[in-house]
Amino acid sequence: MDDDDRQLTDAAVVLDGGTFAWVGRAADAPAADERHDAAGRAALPGWVDSHSHLIFAGDRSAEFEARMAGADYAAGGIGVTVDATRKATDDQLRAGAARLIDEARRQGTTAMEIKTGYGLDVDTEVRLATIAGEFGDEVTFLGAHLVPAGSNADEYTNLVAGPMLDAVAPHAGWIDVFCERGAFTTEQSRRVLEAGRAKGLGLRVHGNQLGPGDGIALAAELGAASVDHCNYLSDADIDALAGTWDDARGGRSAGPHGTVATLLPACDLSTRQPFGPARELVDAGVEVALAANCNPGSSFTTSMPFVVATAVLQMKLTLREALRAATRGGAVALRRDTSSGTPRPLGSVAVGCRADLQLLDAPSAVHLAYRPGVPLTADVWRAGVRVAGSVR
Ligand code: NIG
Repeated sequence: MDDDDRQLTDAAVVLDGGTFAWVGRAADAPAADERHDAAGRAALPGWVDSHSHLIFAGDRSAEFEARMAGADYAAGGIGVTVDATRKATDDQLRAGAARLIDEARRQGTTAMEIKTGYGLDVDTEVRLATIAGEFGDEVTFLGAHLVPAGSNADEYTNLVAGPMLDAVAPHAGWIDVFCERGAFTTEQSRRVLEAGRAKGLGLRVHGNQLGPGDGIALAAELGAASVDHCNYLSDADIDALAGTWDDARGGRSAGPHGTVATLLPACDLSTRQPFGPARELVDAGVEVALAANCNPGSSFTTSMPFVVATAVLQMKLTLREALRAATRGGAVALRRDTSSGTPRPLGSVAVGCRADLQLLDAPSAVHLAYRPGVPLTADVWRAGVRVAGSVR
């Protein structure tokens, strides 16, 4: 599938120096130094997983087990991971991230955004951002993940928007805030986002995950690239997001894109929250991204095939819509798609894009939802280098 969600049969691609150099019908393919026969297997772009919290230490399986027995998910659990992460060495954090990245790649993920947010002090947030940069395609500063125990919320917000931002900004491209009851108020969230923007960072928001709130409206108003979770949306929230896309398509905004709604179905299942309104968002003209949100608290999975299958089976997206959301949608959320003017765009099989490609052990991508839970990922290339599988 390419930019226009076009599907080709009997197709071939030519990779050159980590980039797609040619895409078309196999019968027309130019000569190449090396050839691999995909033997009728489906090929699609690698997944662009635009929301993760991969750099952490510790285990929260007991919290998950209690939740499955009826306890609620609450923002405060983040503090458990913060304690463990602060105590871990850099090498321990790197080993954990490497294991999860490898797991993700074996399931077709070729691009990942990684957030900080389990340090919540200046030194640890810098450590996490530095390690995230070693493993991720995009790094997001999430000092505003939780007010640490014993801190005053406004004083901590000032720290995040001041000295912590100054120290982390050189290692990050994005700033994010958990705008939610139990985390940061609307006013605190705005302060953090505006400070990040003044430092040159792009904006992302965790919004409306645990209840209705102002996160969506704030993200739309400030022109955030993405607002993530989106479990409790009012009609006005959907209109606000759709308005950003109307403006972008009508040439009334700075760039070609509005605010992406990033939906996280694995998290919704693991926290027993209602799914985000994927169907309504797509129908309203909002670009939707799907991401795995790998983290030890709310969504301990790297599996984009699981996310795609859930979006189709439970969230009323068509297979094509889900595939787009998990590839190009994620790239748009990171402003790394073909319209963003970025070098070697992500999320599409098109000439000039980074050669991120996966083959499925199936004749079509429909099988991702038709055969849910079956490990269909066969071979994966990232920037032209095979990172999982072995072409037969
Ligand atoms: O995106 N919602 C906030 N942050 C994470 C969860 C973090 C945690 O529980 O450790 C999320 O779901």
